[in-house]
Amino acid sequence: MNSTVSEELSAERSPPMLEVRHLNVWYGVTEVLRDVSFTVPENKIVSLLGGNGSGKTTVLNTLSGMLTPRAGNIIFQGSEIAGRASDKMVKSGIVQVPQGREVFSDMTVRENLELGAATRRGMAAIRNDIDEMYVLFPRLKEKQAMRAGSLSGGEQQQVALGRALMAKPKLLLMDEPSVGLSPLIVQAVVETIRQLHASGLTILIVEQNVGVAAAVAEDAYVLKDGAIAYSGSAPGLINDPEVLASYLGG
Ligand SMILES: Nc1ncnc2c1ncn2[C@@H]1O[C@H](COP(=O)(O)OP(=O)(O)OP(=O)(O)O)[C@@H](O)[C@H]1O
Ligand SMILES: [Mg+2]
Repeated sequence: MNSTVSEELSAERSPPMLEVRHLNVWYGVTEVLRDVSFTVPENKIVSLLGGNGSGKTTVLNTLSGMLTPRAGNIIFQGSEIAGRASDKMVKSGIVQVPQGREVFSDMTVRENLELGAATRRGMAAIRNDIDEMYVLFPRLKEKQAMRAGSLSGGEQQQVALGRALMAKPKLLLMDEPSVGLSPLIVQAVVETIRQLHASGLTILIVEQNVGVAAAVAEDAYVLKDGAIAYSGSAPGLINDPEVLASYLGG
């Protein structure tokens, strides 16, 4: 057996990095996620699509420990983690880039990056990682002493992403990184995601932009009214008018 085939077989046998099974999440008396199941294999990019209010952010908030599921399993690297607090999730390696690229507007770019390392120890390593962020995002180096709130939308997306990366994620959760950005900046975001993937990061990306999902992800899941309505290949979605029209507003 040649090595490629045996590597492929062993990759298939190894359990996924993340396995979500029959997840149910409620806000008060409203059921928001119904029986949601999906997997994220190690070193892959998986996209979660769906229209406004379909439950995408709720999935990410549950994975990052901000919401507690009423039922279901979240198995991360072989351990059940459903219901763990968010600081524990970060320590386990699950880190979220929030929707709307929330940055701490009144703090500097550098302070925002430092905050991302709040759960870590070792100042030298942290300083070193900030320098790495400046290699990945040269604009942030130029603007490191500026208020994060004064940056452009694309630059704030870099701050939000850089802050998440400073926590040393194994699984990065990205919530609509492309929304509200110009096509050129969206292309830069796509390139960054590809670079992070090439460096070994596993990513779950929430998008409404099917083009972005198809450009970066291998697998896609589509949410409708809090339930998985479709799963398949992410690049394949672009050529699936039925799925586009039924679940993603064309
Ligand atoms: N804090 C909350 N309390 C009550 N209901 C909420 C809360 N947050 C969200 N919801 C509801 O839960 C559902 C799913 O919301 P969610 O934010 O997960 O959707 P989404 O797919 O991320 O939408 P969008 O694309 O607009 O970001 C919606 O019906 C929303 O109104
Ligand atoms: Mg959302």
